[in-house]
Amino acid sequence: MIAFDGKVVLVTGGARGIGAAAVRAMAGAGARVVIHYVRNRDAAEALAAEFEDGATCLVQGDLADPAATEAIWTEALAWQGQIDVLVNNAGIYEPADPDGDLDAFLASWDRTLRVNLTAAAQLCRHAVDHFRARGGGTIVNVASRAAFRGDDYDRMNYAASKGGLAALTRSIARKCAHWGVLAYTVAPGFVATDMVDDIIEQDGMDDMIKDVPLGAIAPAEDVGNTIAFLAGGLAPHATGTTVDINGASHIR
Ligand SMILES: NC(=O)c1ccc[n+]([C@@H]2O[C@H](COP(=O)([O-])OP(=O)(O)OC[C@H]3O[C@@H](n4cnc5c(N)ncnc54)[C@H](O)[C@@H]3O)[C@@H](O)[C@H]2O)c1
Repeated sequence: MIAFDGKVVLVTGGARGIGAAAVRAMAGAGARVVIHYVRNRDAAEALAAEFEDGATCLVQGDLADPAATEAIWTEALAWQGQIDVLVNNAGIYEPADPDGDLDAFLASWDRTLRVNLTAAAQLCRHAVDHFRARGGGTIVNVASRAAFRGDDYDRMNYAASKGGLAALTRSIARKCAHWGVLAYTVAPGFVATDMVDDIIEQDGMDDMIKDVPLGAIAPAEDVGNTIAFLAGGLAPHATGTTVDINGASHIR
């Protein structure tokens, strides 16, 4: 039975999609949750309204900005004076066409690595420091199937950022376990969220699921529930592991 009583969780990009599903799974199991958002305050407020007063706290900030990323951690920690679980969920999936304009290509690589990898590392740095002082804590990083399988010709930036995130997570698991720090990667394939709306519109759902033996893309709840299970402390010896959620489209 997963229980988060007394635990405080920070979920980046928690207002929608996979982040919101993770918030629901953990707040529903008794966690107090910091819902981080960047632009959509209305969605964050609507999600918070699903839970009793005091169960959630909203923190705004752009992970593209290192100073704002620092402020996200500081504000999140100030809410309850503790954080037990960090979920680095926020991410972007934007093209960087190798055959296109160089400046645009480099700008997209920089943005993608910054938001998907460096910002997560920045928050992990704080989390490890905080967990170390408190005798333990858990990090769940949301990578992607692309980290292991690769991605499209114009999404190599995304695959590289998620590969880096998986390597970061494994390093933390190996080198910080003796401080009680647990670290897990979740690696979704296609998930039904805003992130893939454009691709569905462009290529169609049939094209998206042609390589998925389960015959559908995953609901966000499959990923949110996996995050809650890993964060819930029921299997600490699984630290360092990656859980694939891709309908058997990529079995490693
Ligand atoms: N949807 C998929 O098919 C899929 C597949 C594999 C991995 N993922 C990963 O799952 C995670 C969640 O994505 P999702 O599918 O819920 O999509 P989404 O677009 O709904 O969510 C992305 C979240 O990241 C936040 N975000 C983006 N840029 C940000 C910034 N600069 N600063 C702060 N927050 C920012 C957004 O506000 C949003 O809440 C991402 O890391 C994504 O890469 C998604």
